[in-house]
Amino acid sequence: MNSTMIESLKKRRTQYALGKNVSLDKDALTALIKEAVRHAPSPFNAQSSRAVILFGEQSEKFWSLAKQELGKIVPADAFAATAAKLDSFAAGVGTVLFYEDQAAVTRMQQQFALYADNFPVWSEQSGGMAQFAVWLALTEAGVGASLQHYNPVTDEATRQEWNVPASWKLRAQMPFGSHEGGFGEKAFMEDSQRFIVKG
Ligand SMILES: Cc1cc2nc3c(=O)[nH]c(=O)nc-3n(C[C@H](O)[C@H](O)[C@H](O)COP(=O)(O)O)c2cc1C
Repeated sequence: MNSTMIESLKKRRTQYALGKNVSLDKDALTALIKEAVRHAPSPFNAQSSRAVILFGEQSEKFWSLAKQELGKIVPADAFAATAAKLDSFAAGVGTVLFYEDQAAVTRMQQQFALYADNFPVWSEQSGGMAQFAVWLALTEAGVGASLQHYNPVTDEATRQEWNVPASWKLRAQMPFGSHEGGFGEKAFMEDSQRFIVKG
């Protein structure tokens, strides 16, 4: 069976070699990212996922803040490698900061008390779905990206810089840009260890 969906899934890879040669402009990319987050599913349609979308100098600013914060905790002899990695993220066109709104989680816990324990977990799961939806949408648009986790070290600096609401919890960062490199081979585990099919 041919499936364009599966073909898209296969095309999505972690791209670290990012550049600025993207044909879509800021407005088109913003619309794409918003649509992907908007249409990602969430428990009881809680819509707890939030995104700060940074372009150009604002994106560079995020990675510079990350460098500043990591400089405080990464040993000096390891910092050059860390800095080079952060520079590669800053070399793209932009970065999506993914948040989960804890106020929305609390609201859902109050509204559906029976599932109170589940909502923090479901929030993380729906956040992952929003991240995946954006990653896939960027892939379809020919834009490379990776998924990073420079939280909580960057939380406070980011909150101050972009006036992010206090209830938004930073969960992941997705630097994106043009594909400036290829991908290595990816290994897959045996189906027999992964799936059980009956009937
Ligand atoms: C939940 C999750 C967390 C990840 N965290 C990171 C990360 O912090 N840094 C990173 O470079 N890649 C991260 N990745 C990317 C994976 O390493 C990558 O998807 C995996 O090795 C498969 O490679 P592919 O993306 O090219 O298919 C993460 C992926 C997932 C799904």
